Amino acid sequence: MELDRSLQVDFRHRVRFTQDALHPDNPTLASLCSDDVWRRMIVFIDGGVHHAHPDLTERLANYLGARAKLGELVPELKMVEVVSGGEEAKNSNDVCEQVMAAADRYGIDRKSFILAIGGGAMLDAVGLGATLSHRGVRLIRMPTTTLAMDDAAMGVKNGINKFGKKNFCGTFAVPWGVIADEQFLTTLTDQQFFSGFSEAVKIGCLKDPSLFELIERDASKIVTRDLCTAMPIIKRSAQLHLDHITQGGDAFELHEARPLDFGHWSAHKLESMSNYEISHGDAVSIGIALDCEYAVRTGLLSQSNCTRIIACLRALRLPTWHPLLANTDQLLRGLEEFREHLGGRMNVTLLRTIGNATEVHQMDHEIVSASASALAP
Ligand SMILES: NC(=O)c1ccc[n+]([C@@H]2O[C@H](COP(=O)([O-])OP(=O)(O)OC[C@H]3O[C@@H](n4cnc5c(N)ncnc54)[C@H](O)[C@@H]3O)[C@@H](O)[C@H]2O)c1
Ligand SMILES: [Zn+2]
Repeated sequence: MELDRSLQVDFRHRVRFTQDALHPDNPTLASLCSDDVWRRMIVFIDGGVHHAHPDLTERLANYLGARAKLGELVPELKMVEVVSGGEEAKNSNDVCEQVMAAADRYGIDRKSFILAIGGGAMLDAVGLGATLSHRGVRLIRMPTTTLAMDDAAMGVKNGINKFGKKNFCGTFAVPWGVIADEQFLTTLTDQQFFSGFSEAVKIGCLKDPSLFELIERDASKIVTRDLCTAMPIIKRSAQLHLDHITQGGDAFELHEARPLDFGHWSAHKLESMSNYEISHGDAVSIGIALDCEYAVRTGLLSQSNCTRIIACLRALRLPTWHPLLANTDQLLRGLEEFREHLGGRMNVTLLRTIGNATEVHQMDHEIVSASASALAP
């Protein structure tokens, strides 16, 4: 007997941008987790966020208390735990295990909530723990970096690094909700703040020339950390990522082309080659610059567009070169690791022009090396 069936599962991806999410008058969080039945909630806070916002636990408890007094059926807060932030959260199983242990200890069922407040790395690790517990507990992400708001929190992926490989271990799962509160961005260092804009440049180059032009025009204001300028760009980038994931027809990456990974083959390798000293956002900036130089040398992209993109990245105070680029042999091993992670034929997204990308299936080692040299200061 042969039985083949298709099946579809309907998910809802709920994204909210707001200000002062834990002010008792702000309905956003309560409306995402109030339900007709009593539930529980456990909360994980990124260590870096906790350091910068030590009163978060108290504010959260007050918030849920105040909303309950208004008659909303908000979940019972069972626990708040601070976990490692940054790539450290993904470089061992620890954070993921902490989440599963807490889900077990506090009787968190599939209809209960795990709230994760932090940067993209910590969201990935806590998300993995949430999706493994009972095969998936409702996860609410509260992204606290520019990169987590304009890209990572929109994703339907969770993961940790293993065997020296980025995101080797992970799952696809749609979060229950995402709440981005711009106040968190005020406590980032300059470099953490700037690094998230590489993903906005990436999505602008791929899908929306007007976004790219806006970033190009406003880069000098973004680097003053003017949130009135930065937030519309972060929101537009988030929306484009969300639209691609939800409307692109390939949320769980079963097909060949994965345009959101533009600039990422070398970025992921540079991150692991540097022992994760290069941040993801910075590595993506270098990866975009490298692939633009490569596209010029293979006749795809005009020199003038390449120059504009690299100038835009530099105006955002993002790096476009690193000494590790000179280690071309090791860097190029990243290509095969990238292919292995995605499966099937090698697929690297390159630009034809700003707003129009294509896929190539091989890369010439000498041209990669020449492209890297061209970026050196
Ligand atoms: N799941 C996805 O679809 C997806 C997409 C893009 C990127 N990512 C992942 O996201 C990660 C990068 O995330 P990131 O750029 O947010 O950096 P990050 O999570 O590594 O955080 C950087 C640093 O900022 C600190 N921090 C976070 N918020 C803070 C705040 N408000 N104030 C002070 N300090 C704060 C953290 O503790 C950490 O030290 C990478 O691991 C990348 O692979 C995932
Ligand atoms: Zn990325």
